Amino acid sequence: MKTYKKLFALIIGAVMIVSLTACGGGGAESTEGGSEEAATPLKVVTEATFAPFEFTEDGDETIKGFDVDMMTAIAEDQGLELEWVNLEFDSLIPALQSNQGDIICAGMNKLSGTRAQEVDFGETYFESVLMLLVKADSDIAGIEAVTPDMKLASQIGTTGGEMVQSMEQEGKIASGVVLNQWTDCYMQLQNGDVQGVIVDKPVGEAYLNAHSDVAKFAGESFGDKEEFAFAVQKGNTELLDKLNAGLKNLKDSGKLQELIDKWFS
Ligand code: ARG
Repeated sequence: MKTYKKLFALIIGAVMIVSLTACGGGGAESTEGGSEEAATPLKVVTEATFAPFEFTEDGDETIKGFDVDMMTAIAEDQGLELEWVNLEFDSLIPALQSNQGDIICAGMNKLSGTRAQEVDFGETYFESVLMLLVKADSDIAGIEAVTPDMKLASQIGTTGGEMVQSMEQEGKIASGVVLNQWTDCYMQLQNGDVQGVIVDKPVGEAYLNAHSDVAKFAGESFGDKEEFAFAVQKGNTELLDKLNAGLKNLKDSGKLQELIDKWFS
């Protein structure tokens, strides 16, 4: 009988040693190089056909642009790690709502529709208006001159996209064509599939810088003034406060103006 008792005591002792070790027990804090979990980078979701805010080029998936430089500077200022994810524009807000992203930075107008009910926007970092882009040889004088036989394109889910769709519903144009990428909108303009593209002025200017031989603005700006802001998940005030603080530091230090000069001069 004694043998069994000794064996049982040995087994219990072995189990206790193993379990203490597994829980990092033994009393002493592990001082040498306790492994710090690497912080998981915050996911910034965007739609990268919106040069010069966010774009990719020559088959390289690296996202570049003003928004990337601005958020990188904010992250450095606030000690944050970011990774960028390229999605379709109309899935950006759902991505935050489904916890597939932490931040939206996409030249997104904070004043549009129900957006501010769905995510929390930060301070404004850029102001913009809409313009009508037409072919260089077009005689369309401006947005007021479009006729019911015409088709206008813009990007799905954007203020421009909503405008072309409402113009179609009001019978002002034959069709409001909403596409996933701005590059597709420009292509349809050049192919003659549409007679105009409604686009944010700084983005249209970037397109014209490289394509002034084939396109031009028609008339003056129209629609409501837009205020671009980054956004976080509803209620994430801790992250939003950090982003706003970083933006303020960029404005106060002149770094934001430096980036505006770099991308919009
Ligand atoms: N400013 C417009 C809006 O808020 C267009 C934004 C498009 N941005 C993009 N990265 N595709 O609806």
